[in-house]
Amino acid sequence: MTKQVLITGVAGFLGSNLLDRLMDEKYSVIGIDNLSMGRMQNIAEHLSNPAFRFIQKDITHEDAFADVDTDLGCIVHLAAFKIPRYGKALDTLQINYRGTETVLELARRHDCKCVLASTSDVYGRNPDLPFSEEHSNCVIGSSKSPRWAYAVSKLFDEHLALAYQDAYGFPVTLLRFFGSYGPKMHLSWWGGPPPVFIDAILNDKEIPIHGDGMQTRSFTYASDTVAGIYAAMTRAEASGEVLNIGATEEITIVDLARKIKELSGVPGELKLKFIPYDEINPGKKYEDVMRRVPDTSLSQRILGVTAEVGIEDGLLRTIEWQRRVTLPARQG
Ligand SMILES: NC(=O)c1ccc[n+]([C@@H]2O[C@H](COP(=O)([O-])OP(=O)(O)OC[C@H]3O[C@@H](n4cnc5c(N)ncnc54)[C@H](O)[C@@H]3O)[C@@H](O)[C@H]2O)c1
Repeated sequence: MTKQVLITGVAGFLGSNLLDRLMDEKYSVIGIDNLSMGRMQNIAEHLSNPAFRFIQKDITHEDAFADVDTDLGCIVHLAAFKIPRYGKALDTLQINYRGTETVLELARRHDCKCVLASTSDVYGRNPDLPFSEEHSNCVIGSSKSPRWAYAVSKLFDEHLALAYQDAYGFPVTLLRFFGSYGPKMHLSWWGGPPPVFIDAILNDKEIPIHGDGMQTRSFTYASDTVAGIYAAMTRAEASGEVLNIGATEEITIVDLARKIKELSGVPGELKLKFIPYDEINPGKKYEDVMRRVPDTSLSQRILGVTAEVGIEDGLLRTIEWQRRVTLPARQG
């Protein structure tokens, strides 16, 4: 593989963390992002490096890659629109379908490997844990609940990528990420519960808990998610595979809030504000996934990676980062 990689969504959370790793490993990277959710701050330190080129474009446009004239060894497709918690199901469906198609067309032209981001959300309402890529069904809820638009769009992307591989012969790998967090994450619900809870605790606000907070997740530190992406890029055995990338430590949302409070060292009481599901997006049905844990035996075997950063260590590093990037700005 030539060391020229194209990352879509490079200014977002995972894209910018992957960029850091690839710059360390001496790759040349072309990064594309329309900055709809990503931030230039995330990639600023690499802008003067000749091994990195940033293109601000929308990947759903046909000419998005017109300026990409060098040979690519691999494309990592991370740009997407995530769960439409507060509407915007149309963006989720259109960006994730059209964007993935333009990316796969680019991979076809370059005849190069393509690693694509999928999500644990595709397992949907399946109650049987842990979720296995080989044995677990994808159980999607009602079409009247817009949150499933995300899982459906990612399942469509998985099928589209595998169909392109069959039709044109270039290798694809699909990665189902389980809730990743860490430095450079989006500081709103877009980044999941960790940034919202950390912000509330650092600023002595109530912590918003959806439902009763007994739903569980297995949060995965950014460097572990990036290790999975890197292995998928570089290992030939990953071609044609659909793989879970995540930690296996399960934690309830309420315990996540408690743990962040404890690790932050902020004195005082934990203030939880429980928000019933029907108040999250009034008028629309909201369904949560009650438990989510990956079976990672396949990704361990094929990619040779396993999550190494425990939840306490990962949260400590993340709280430290969030303190640094948010508090001085407010004080200044
Ligand atoms: N972070 C997680 O925990 C997680 C979990 C499951 C799946 N995923 C998937 O991993 C990928 C990366 O997630 P993330 O957390 O880094 O998200 P993110 O929103 O931080 O990054 C996505 C980036 O894509 C860009 N983008 C969106 N639409 C675009 C478009 N039309 N053209 C160009 N750029 C566009 C955004 O500006 C953003 O910078 C996504 O595909 C997401 O669905 C992430």
